[in-house]
Amino acid sequence: MHCVVTGAAGFIGSHLTARLLREGHRVTGIDCFTDYYSPILKLQRRDELTSVAGDLEFINLDLTAAPVSEILRDVDVIFHQAGQPGVRASWSSGFNAYTMNNIIATQRLLEAAAGVPSPPKFVYASSSSVYGTATSFPTLETALPSPVSPYGVTKLAAEHLCVLYAKAHGVHTVSLRYFTVYGPGQRPDMAFTRFCRAADTRETVRIFGDGEQVRDFTYIDDVVDANLLSATHPNVPAGAVINIAGGTNASVNSILRIFGEELGAPVKAEYVAASRGDAARTGGDTTRAQQILGWQPRTDLRDGLRQQLDWVRSLTSRDLLDNDR
Ligand code: UGA
Repeated sequence: MHCVVTGAAGFIGSHLTARLLREGHRVTGIDCFTDYYSPILKLQRRDELTSVAGDLEFINLDLTAAPVSEILRDVDVIFHQAGQPGVRASWSSGFNAYTMNNIIATQRLLEAAAGVPSPPKFVYASSSSVYGTATSFPTLETALPSPVSPYGVTKLAAEHLCVLYAKAHGVHTVSLRYFTVYGPGQRPDMAFTRFCRAADTRETVRIFGDGEQVRDFTYIDDVVDANLLSATHPNVPAGAVINIAGGTNASVNSILRIFGEELGAPVKAEYVAASRGDAARTGGDTTRAQQILGWQPRTDLRDGLRQQLDWVRSLTSRDLLDNDR
């Protein structure tokens, strides 16, 4: 396949790109190296990808402004992983970047895809944050979305655009609702990377709220599997919306305890005010993923967490993980 991966220098996009290259696919990677977290980390990922044997072209391109139609010529699949990530920074003046990088960028890419004589398949990185704090668990895709953060609103708007372009323009879109993805390379603003970093240096981690919020943490390789299956599995309905959830259902406090067990000493934690827009619980039903894609999560939380700890320990400079989002 000839694949376009947007956000190819990001956490999920870089893993996906590496896997596509290893499987012999041609990849056009797009990224514009925004500074939500250290662009140096992203440049390092790009350099690592260019050293993987395979057919990769990397393009520095801003999806909110640059023409994209040319790039979509002869493309079989677009994996649209680019976006403005993170729940906590999406309030007040931060919202403009979320509108641009999540909604406008997606609409421009869909419009360009629709203009191609034989539109490429379009796999969109949606998010569990579209649910907000759901009223039933495990949450089905048919539950009424009700985001509790501006970030979730923009991810949902872009997901609606994907469904709309499937209906109105025949673009074969699939939206994957990822539930808190973790593993090696996870973004520096996210809980596990912060905990890994602090755990070794015996620094104190900050816990937002009482730490009893529950997440359905999902391992990166499982998310990559879901993307590949979405592109290749026969009979995936156009406009499909599918939960991709690890089945972990762990509270933040229980994660800290696991870290403590792995390190042989408790992790020091400071409890601070709850973060605006933080869902109290996420938990996705994955029956649809199983039925449509034949997908199910394969990675045990403790194994995945060890992989992430090993990754943080392997970094030559942990300063690149500095982040106050
Ligand atoms: C994550 C990503 O950041 C979003 O981009 C993504 O869309 C979303 O998952 C998703 O489900 O799709 P979040 O669940 O908030 O959002 O992930 P983390 O930042 O790893 O936080 C997990 C939990 O740990 C949250 O309750 C958060 O408040 C808490 N946390 C995080 C802390 O207590 N302390 C920290 O330093 C960081």
